[in-house]
This record gives sequence, C-alpha cells and structure tokens, in this order.
Amino acid sequence: MNRAPLIFLGIFFALAFSWTGIVLVNQISYGDLTPVYDENDGIAYPQALPGIAQQGRLVYQDLGCVYCHTQQVRRPGFGADIERGWGERQSVARDYIREPRVFLGSMRTGPDLRNVGTRYVDTPTSKAGSEWHHRHLYDPQITSPGSNMPPFKFLYETRKIVGEPSVNAITHLLPEQYQPEAGYEVVPTKRAESLVAYLLSLKDTYAYPETNNVYVEPAPEETKAAGQKEESK
Ligand code: HEC
Repeated sequence: MNRAPLIFLGIFFALAFSWTGIVLVNQISYGDLTPVYDENDGIAYPQALPGIAQQGRLVYQDLGCVYCHTQQVRRPGFGADIERGWGERQSVARDYIREPRVFLGSMRTGPDLRNVGTRYVDTPTSKAGSEWHHRHLYDPQITSPGSNMPPFKFLYETRKIVGEPSVNAITHLLPEQYQPEAGYEVVPTKRAESLVAYLLSLKDTYAYPETNNVYVEPAPEETKAAGQKEESK
C-alpha cells in the first residue's frame, strides 16, 4: 500500500497546526499593537530610545547580560517582582513593540532590569544614576559586596593623564584599592557610556489601557475596608 499521501498529509497538518498556533495566533493578537499617543504629554508610548541608548542595547546583547537578567515584570501571583520593587505593574506586549529583539531573558540570577531606570536616576543636577552604574560595572563588589555578577572592567580604560584629567573619568568614584598609579585615570569607553545610557533609559511606567486590567492589586487598606464592609453586611 502506498502510504506516501498519508505521511505527507500528516506532516503537512502537524506543521500547519504549529505554525497557526505559534505564528498566526500571536500575529493576530499582538501584530497590530501600536504606540499609544498621550494627548496630555504629546508623547507616543512606548518612547523610542535615544541614539546612544540604542547603541547600549547592542552592548547589552553582546555581553550576554540577558543570561542573568530578565526584562519582564511578572504579575502578582506569578512571582514577587512587584513586591521586590522591580516595577509598578506587570509587563505587557505593548512595552516591547519598538524593540527589534526582545530581551525577556530566562534566568533571574540578578534582579529584573525592565525598570532599572527608575532605581538609578540622573537628574539635571546629579549624575548619581550613571555613577552608580559605572562603579557597579567596574566591579559589582564596590556597590554590592558578595554579588556574583562578574566585573566588566574591560569596558574601562586606565590611561595616563595628559594635560588636564578627562571630564568623564571615574577615578574619583572608585575605592582606594581600585585606584590606578599616580598620574593615571580610569575612563569609560564608548561601550560603557552607551551601556549606562541604555540602563538609565529602561523604564515602563506608562499605564496603557490594558495595564489597568491586568494589574489589579488593591492596597492593603482597601482590602481591609472591603473585608469590613463584607462583615458588616
Ligand atoms: C552571572 C550573572 C550576571 C551577569 C552575566 C550579569 N549580571 Fe547584573 N547582576 C547579577 C546579580 C546577582 C545582581 C545583584 C547583585 C548586584 O547588585 O550586583 C546583579 C545586579 C545588576 C544591576 C543592579 C540591579 C538593581 O536593581 O540593583 C544591574 C544594573 C546589572 N546587574 C546590570 C548588568 C549588566 C548591564 C550586565 C551585562 C553587562 C550584567 N548585569 C550581567 C548577575 C549578573
């Protein structure tokens, strides 16, 4: 008996089903997502990254930060991400629509970084956010003793001071045992600068229509009040 047509149909339908499930259904659900234009702010969210942060994104990809860090805040009940302060709300598909490659990550060895830009912040008068990142990337032991994140010292250059010290040198931010010889300074490379710009830009704080429905966790007072009402009925 010739079973070739049967085998062909079997394979065809198996592939067609998986393609429909994996590609088509997701394309229908998420393919049309567009940025949300907020008339009050005059901004379309999610915002595009500034150019230097776009470069930093490639450095992040290149250095494999994704092996230890996720960029996906889970909803309450699926992990303690919100209690840990990793975000105010869960991540939704729209957060990622401007990203050519999404760094969801797999292992949460380190903290989720989707909103790290709200934890270390630069202001017009302070560079506290970037300074923290530079010290941490130079050697995580400086800011987080006992950390098992590897140092990324190779993103910094130790070089002789010629004339005036460089304005972007981080020498003064490093503890004594990291100080270079007298007459030398530690300067971030272009890759370090852009990686830090990328980290500072990571924040999903905008509330889309769909985020109002997916993250509903009443504040403790409200729960209590609701409970009391129930009792008094
Ligand atoms: C081997 C796993 C590992 C790798 C690889 C790794 N990290 Fe980490 N990272 C950690 C751990 C663990 C922590 C928590 C302790 C600390 O602050 O160092 C952390 C903390 C951080 C924090 C601070 C987060 C916070 O909320 O305080 C940032 C920012 C960060 N990592 C960025 C990076 C970047 C950028 C890369 C890639 C260049 C990277 N990490 C690679 C494990 C890793």
